[in-house]
Amino acid sequence: MKHCLVTGGAGFIGSHLVEYLLAQGHHVSVVDDESTGTRDNLAAVIRHPNLDYSKGTAADRELIRRKLLRAEEVYHLAAAVGVQLIASSPIHTIEANVYPTEIVLDELGRMHEDGHNVKVFLASTSEVYGKNPKDVYEEDDDLVFGPTTRPRWSYGVSKAIDEFLALAYWSERGLPVVVGRFFNVVGPRQSGAYGMVLPRFVEAALKGVPLTVHDDGLQTRCFAHVSDVVYSMTTLMNTPAAVGRVFNIGSESPISILDLARKVIAAVDPSLDVRFQSYEEAYSANFEDCRSRIPSLARLRSTIDYEPKYALDDIIREVVAWKRQALETGGQK
Ligand SMILES: NC(=O)c1ccc[n+]([C@@H]2O[C@H](COP(=O)([O-])OP(=O)(O)OC[C@H]3O[C@@H](n4cnc5c(N)ncnc54)[C@H](O)[C@@H]3O)[C@@H](O)[C@H]2O)c1
Repeated sequence: MKHCLVTGGAGFIGSHLVEYLLAQGHHVSVVDDESTGTRDNLAAVIRHPNLDYSKGTAADRELIRRKLLRAEEVYHLAAAVGVQLIASSPIHTIEANVYPTEIVLDELGRMHEDGHNVKVFLASTSEVYGKNPKDVYEEDDDLVFGPTTRPRWSYGVSKAIDEFLALAYWSERGLPVVVGRFFNVVGPRQSGAYGMVLPRFVEAALKGVPLTVHDDGLQTRCFAHVSDVVYSMTTLMNTPAAVGRVFNIGSESPISILDLARKVIAAVDPSLDVRFQSYEEAYSANFEDCRSRIPSLARLRSTIDYEPKYALDDIIREVVAWKRQALETGGQK
């Protein structure tokens, strides 16, 4: 049994991780400022005797220091997430993604010098590949960003800084870090409010309105179930060979966004339509996207035993069922 600190533990991925860690018998402290997450995501475990929940920011050094006192493992997930949020609030994005990571790593670095060896998982993103035109991304590929006048790239760049910093703490100070680059993660409790595509489509379908597809819809992404992602994170943290390394995490099965919309329509109401919207109308004139984003999972598979358990059709059915219930009971919108 371990004591784990999860920053961003009231978020979509964080809440699933917290439930999993508690089910394994671990003690879990959560620090979440509830900016995009909500305590309701932890409703099933909020009174669990091994859960210590704090509403607060990971940028609060005193709070992090206190929560680290008993920690043996840290999962740092707190971040500004979602294309819509990033496009509209680049200052918040950069600050939320860089400063708290500095605090967490600095505190862990000090503890490490004092002989407390606390391992940390850094949640990074496929966005760090930017608009690299390769078909399949490997972890050592170049990061290719657009100009700084396009705020969209601030998310990937800020996460790349986090990665550089975490890897520097490993190489210079010996702090054990594991970096996971999540590709699109989906499942119950993901909010559509910040531009995430699957919950946005499901919400529209359940309201009986057309599904808004950006651009021509032929851009492709790979969608992994949050449980497969939690399994990957926690297994990597239990694998000594993962330390000091970066891993793509997710699904390697691409689907176009238009086909994703069609699958949601088929699952909810086949009479629904798709509405196309330009990026300019959706975000701004200087928005840029990348056409395809497919991970190589070769490194992940050579390090842990990994086979995704969830097919996309099953994930869509699960998200539809969850969202339907949430709308009926007045839960997360
Ligand atoms: N969902 C995806 O598809 C995806 C893809 C790539 C990377 N990621 C990464 O995974 C992590 C979790 O993302 P998610 O999808 O669960 O998003 P989320 O928005 O549901 O979770 C982020 C959580 O962090 C909290 N938070 C934000 N800033 C904070 C701060 N300063 N201090 C404390 N808490 C703070 C939010 O309230 C929220 O609960 C993030 O680091 C994100 O960059 C997610």
